[in-house]
Amino acid sequence: MPRNRKGIALMESHTIFGDLADFIDRTYAPEDELLRALKAEARERGLPPIQVPPSVGKLLAMLVAISGAERILEIGTLAGYSAIWMARALPADGRLVSLEIDPLHKELADTFLRRAGLADRAEVRLGPALETLPRLSPSEPFDMAFMDADKENNPAYLEWALKLVRPGGLIVVDNVLRGGGVLDPDPSDAALVGARRYNELVAADPRLDALIVFSRNGSWPVDGVSIARIRDER
Ligand code: SAH
Ligand code: DHB
Ligand code: MG
Repeated sequence: MPRNRKGIALMESHTIFGDLADFIDRTYAPEDELLRALKAEARERGLPPIQVPPSVGKLLAMLVAISGAERILEIGTLAGYSAIWMARALPADGRLVSLEIDPLHKELADTFLRRAGLADRAEVRLGPALETLPRLSPSEPFDMAFMDADKENNPAYLEWALKLVRPGGLIVVDNVLRGGGVLDPDPSDAALVGARRYNELVAADPRLDALIVFSRNGSWPVDGVSIARIRDER
């Protein structure tokens, strides 16, 4: 039986899903030279290959474009792959702030944001997100937040996003299904507990409208991206 990066056995339905995900990536979300170079260099420097797949990069870029977002908050930069997808969809005077705990990841992301010509609109702030979030001002609200860092803190990041994103804005979270692990009623690892709790919170919150879009990544046969919109007066 074929196995994925984490050694998880893939059933026939998983491999069909994976083949279709490959098809979607190469047909609808081809990567340019810069994104390919970023992934190659990140791998050489020993970063884990856990950036969003191309189709999720494209989903994020489409959410920016469709919603007209001009200010984006990201939690979890890695080498800047998802940041570049989103920042490229911003208007010239738009702004993306990405929070990252690891100095090597920030260094690589800074390099590639510069090479992408996005240094004027995208910035990486170093530190644990729970320490850098309080330094952001609710008086300069974001239009969209994308959370993709330590999953155990997603419930706390949701609280911050509700303070920092404007009514009508979007709160997007990666890896909310984790290969079906969220179905485990008594999960053993903290990341799964965080993902389960996040889904419960976001689905039940009367301030939010939310859904999950299926996705895939290298770690699990199937995963999901949660998209929530903060209700406004309309
Ligand atoms: N969004 C990226 C992938 C992020 S991987 C992309 O798709 O390209 C998760 C990142 O979150 C890693 O770089 C990790 O160092 C960072 N991270 C983990 N815990 C964090 C924390 N508490 N605060 C900020 N960043 C954190
Ligand atoms: C992992 C983390 C991610 O954010 C992701 O998209 C895929 C895998 C991980 O921790 O394995
Ligand atoms: Mg992720």
